[in-house]
Amino acid sequence: MEIKKIFVIGAGLMGAGIAQVAIQSGYDVILNDISESTLANGATGIEERLNRSVAKGFMSHEEKDACMKRLTCSMELASAAECQFVIEAIYENFEAKRAVFEKLDVICPPETILSSNTSSISLTALSSVVKRPEKFIGMHFFSPVPVMKLLEIIRGLRTSEDTLSAAREVGERLEKVMVVAKDMPGFIVNRILIPMLNEAVQILDESIGTVEDIDNGMKCGCNHPMGPLALADMVGLDVLLAAIEVFYSELGDSKYRPAPLLRKMVKAGYLGRKSGAGFYLYEAGGKKLGV
Ligand code: 3HC
Repeated sequence: MEIKKIFVIGAGLMGAGIAQVAIQSGYDVILNDISESTLANGATGIEERLNRSVAKGFMSHEEKDACMKRLTCSMELASAAECQFVIEAIYENFEAKRAVFEKLDVICPPETILSSNTSSISLTALSSVVKRPEKFIGMHFFSPVPVMKLLEIIRGLRTSEDTLSAAREVGERLEKVMVVAKDMPGFIVNRILIPMLNEAVQILDESIGTVEDIDNGMKCGCNHPMGPLALADMVGLDVLLAAIEVFYSELGDSKYRPAPLLRKMVKAGYLGRKSGAGFYLYEAGGKKLGV
């Protein structure tokens, strides 16, 4: 089956980024969200980023227009019936994802491959909510999707070889470096990254260093492009908390206990860049103002 059209559910940071790289790779894409404003913001963000690429001379006006023609926005989940590959990128909540996949399983023809961009939820558990677990796979992208080279592909216990090949084919066309991970909490990258970010919040809570010193420490001491607290703000503190909570409950090791300050920040509505405040303050466009 040739994959021509991809359905991306969730027009937030990740979904819009995935839709952007897919249209730039020649796929037709339907970007879907239940919120009209999120969908509009997602599409506007894509167009703005492509405009910047034109301004920098990376693509022509014609190429940009051709990309935008390949993008359709729809609030109807039923449009997924037209697509051969579905990538779900909604928020990290099993029940919310289950509701989406149960509907998709009815809407999509049996040959359509269903995938999730989940960063921490079990692929095997998610695949068990559909009648085609062999056609279910993890497509875990990294933020910002247009910049980060990696695509982590996750095999559920019942994912077939054919589905893995199809996922690899999509990843190759998106020009991503691919790694294949077993279905375990955090897979490869987040199993290492998320505890590190949680630890950075913990040492802030213990007053071992200031926000700036913790970030500068890791930037200048380990050559990380961003400090862990700035990265936590970019990922979203709610996303970080959801991920570390899955590690804690699934793996049962106290080393994955969420930092109390992380819980407090999320309760206070400080979710990082998307909410305007986290460990740093942000202007509307996401520009960092300082601690
Ligand atoms: N969307 C698209 N492009 C973006 C972007 C965004 N949100 N933010 C920055 N860029 C692009 C810029 O346009 C620029 O492109 P150019 O080189 O073609 O001009 C390039 O990235 C560099 O941007 P800047 O010069 O503005 O800034 P930096 O050099 O500081 O780079 C960064 C920004 C790419 C975000 C860099 O700091 C970085 O790599 N940070 C680490 C990111 C990271 O670790 N991501 C993984 C997060 S974990 C995850 O996603 C998994 C999840 O499950 C939790």
